[in-house]
Parts: sequence; C-alpha cells; structure tokens
Amino acid sequence: MIDDLFEFTRMSYGGMKAKPELIDLGELLGQLAEESVPLFREAGMEYRLSVPREKIIVLADGDLMARVLENLISNGIRYGKTGKYVDLELVKDGAWAVVRVANYGEPISQGDLSHLFERFYRVEKSRSGETGGTGLGLAIAKSIIDLHQGRISAYNDPDRTVFEVRLQISKVDTHAGRYTSRG
Ligand SMILES: Nc1ncnc2c1ncn2[C@@H]1O[C@H](COP(=O)(O)OP(=O)(O)OP(=O)(O)O)[C@@H](O)[C@H]1O
Ligand SMILES: [Mg+2]
Repeated sequence: MIDDLFEFTRMSYGGMKAKPELIDLGELLGQLAEESVPLFREAGMEYRLSVPREKIIVLADGDLMARVLENLISNGIRYGKTGKYVDLELVKDGAWAVVRVANYGEPISQGDLSHLFERFYRVEKSRSGETGGTGLGLAIAKSIIDLHQGRISAYNDPDRTVFEVRLQISKVDTHAGRYTSRG
C-alpha cells in the first residue's frame, strides 16, 4: 500500500522517467497471460488470447507497460469471478495498437465507470468484499498510459466489462533505418 502510494505520487508529479524501447505487444501480452496462469487456476478461470499474426510494435517502457497490463489482468480475475473467462485481445486500429482486457459477469455501473481511474476509488461492492485492493492500480495505470501519450478507458460491452489501452504504433523510418513513434 505504501509502496503503491509512493509509486503513484512519483508518477503523478513528473518523477517517473520511462525508458522507451521497441515492444512487441502481442509477445508481451502472451507472456503476461502465461505468467498469470496460477492466478487463473486459483480462481477457476481461463484466459482467451487473441493476437494478430502481424507484429504490432510500440515504443514504450516494457516494465511499465507490463505493470499496466498485469493490473488489468489481475482485476479481470479479481472482479470477474462470476464469469469463466478473461479475454486478452490485441488489434490494430489505424495508427493505434489496441489492447483489450475483458471479463464477464456483472457490468460496472455508469456512475462507477467515470471514477474508476481516480486514486483510491473502489466500487462499493469491492470495498465491502474481501477482494482487498487499495484502489490505486488503475490510477497508476492511467499515469503510465498518459506518460506514453496513450489512452486508457473502461466500458461495458453487451456481455463483458472491457478495459482498453491505446498506444501509437511505431513504424520503421526507412530513411533512418530505425523505428520512430508515429503521430
Ligand atoms: N475488471 C473489473 N470489473 C469490475 N470492476 C472493476 C474491474 N477492474 C476494476 N474494477 C473496480 O475498480 C476499482 C479500482 O480498481 P484498481 O485496480 O484501481 O484498484 P484495486 O484493484 O481495488 O486495488 P489495487 O489494484 O491497488 O490492488 C476496483 O476496486 C473495482 O471496484
Ligand atoms: Mg487492481
């Protein structure tokens, strides 16, 4: 809790420096899914991974991106227990790489959706339950995504709760022979 709070404060006040590198998002998502297998097993759940054949590369800090996605995955498990699956999807949308982490079960109310990314905000049910989080995970995730000029949002599909991260895709700069961030 203290560590999380410290981390959040550090990131929110410009103290965080990202170390950008070229990240294969499909590979990262697959690795994190595999690392989460024990958590899925314990919850009696499974992940469903959907990644395009084509590599999607972004310029981002790998550790920070892993931290964001780990929080979304662990939230999907923690708060999606009434459903069996957590869907992990990567798609390309024009210049954007889009990662979606979605769980089934009860939708989040419209009122709660607009506050999820605020620090210490927890939906009333999770506050009273035994899920035991601090309410900082999504606030930290948002700081990290902001730092990468990306977008993070949450919405309800007809049958799922979806957390979506958008990052600009890197493209090869053929003249310089290296990758640059587009946009
Ligand atoms: N996938 C989800 N489905 C339903 N509710 C969610 C989901 N993810 C987050 N929430 C709600 O948003 C709140 C905030 O999430 P956040 O990750 O910021 O904190 P936390 O999980 O409570 O604690 P921490 O991540 O710091 O351990 C959660 O307490 C929960 O009420
Ligand atoms: Mg969390």
